[in-house]
Amino acid sequence: MTVADRAPPSPSPPAASRQRCAACGHELAETDPRQRCPNCTGLLEIRHPPPAATGMALRALLDARCGTRAGPFYSGVWRFRELVLPSAGDDVLSYPEGNTPLLARPSVAQWAGATTLLLKHEGHNPTGSFKDRGMTVGVTHARRVRATAVACASTGNTGASLAAYAALAGLPALVLVPKGRVALGKLTQLLAYGARTLVVPGDFDTCLDLALKASEQLGVYLLNSINPFRVEGQKTIVLELLQQLGWEPPDWILVPAGNLGNTAAFGKALREAREWGLIRRVPRLAAVQAEGAAPFALSFAEGFARRHRVEAHTVATAISIGNPASYDRAVTAIRETDGVVTAVSDAEILEAKAVVDASGVGCEPASAASVAGARQLINKGVIRRGDRLVAVLTGHILKDPDAITRYHSGTPPPPPHANPPIEIEARVAEIARVLSARG
Ligand code: F0G
Repeated sequence: MTVADRAPPSPSPPAASRQRCAACGHELAETDPRQRCPNCTGLLEIRHPPPAATGMALRALLDARCGTRAGPFYSGVWRFRELVLPSAGDDVLSYPEGNTPLLARPSVAQWAGATTLLLKHEGHNPTGSFKDRGMTVGVTHARRVRATAVACASTGNTGASLAAYAALAGLPALVLVPKGRVALGKLTQLLAYGARTLVVPGDFDTCLDLALKASEQLGVYLLNSINPFRVEGQKTIVLELLQQLGWEPPDWILVPAGNLGNTAAFGKALREAREWGLIRRVPRLAAVQAEGAAPFALSFAEGFARRHRVEAHTVATAISIGNPASYDRAVTAIRETDGVVTAVSDAEILEAKAVVDASGVGCEPASAASVAGARQLINKGVIRRGDRLVAVLTGHILKDPDAITRYHSGTPPPPPHANPPIEIEARVAEIARVLSARG
């Protein structure tokens, strides 16, 4: 019996959603805890009953909840509950999360060569990354299926988010991380929020394989983005930015891409937003990978003829992933949005990050891939200068402090935008010298 059964939230609770295998169409009940299709091991997708209101009425319903300072619609995820998990009722476990800003920074747009480039800053979430949007839904659902422990493999952010929400839920959390490849800010969050942090020799892909086996054999509830409830929460990045733009979609949405959960979620959000009349036109998606971890970009270049697997190496540790789990769903997202997939070098990522940081906004390295991708796609003529762009910044600047000190005290020649610390004698004349040198 679920909590919802014991305490119905309203006299007529909304109909439950279904889980459907994206590969063979097999359906499971919403509360079936299995994470893959029992027929063909395909990935599951949530199918919601159509919302009671659609089109302008749905817009009005969602807009009326904006600006709420407390209560169930305060969260930038649960404000969209009809499109996320309509049957959640009073079960919701929320920080709250979301309500992240959409920022205009002329210096960043100018660097990218765009007339209009807005930054959707997901680093403003409670644990400093977009992962909180999926995790509020995932951990809410974990409680509904009476999970006794939750787990994930992670390059750091998923784990930090899981650890915080598990603490909120009072559930034990296990996080499997690749040894030596997790940025300091994220590792410290894992320890501080109280997750059991398991350091695995190998890469993220090794950790995910192990986490999948552990969830099947030991019964812990897996909360990586193959979990379809995580995807439902992550859709709200797109729903919220569309709402912030008055439901007038941009021409492009650019997103850093690693395990491809977000790319998949964005595609589903846009499909449903059009289906339910929130928007009339679907923006194009650009998924941006790091060159050293770009299996999806390789597949895209071949018209998705085959799936690739690579040994991942990139300074953007968050997206250092060689065998993305949500590949099939992400292919659908790119096809349905007439999207593109590209890869940018570590040098381009670090330069984009330095520009975003110096604008006073700041983000972690992986996040800057979206901005680096904007510049590259404009230079290639894929995106037109006059197109309206939204680049998603996925994580906070303090997630990876080492990347910042390495860049700014970089070995000669100094990188563009380097801002190394300057040692001075304790004399005002020294300060005057620095002031005049900076002109
Ligand atoms: N940006 C950041 C900051 C991330 O942490 C991740 C993924 C991505 C982008 C890529 O998103 O996997 O949905 O394509 N981080 C995962 C983690 C893998 O474990 O924290 P994706």
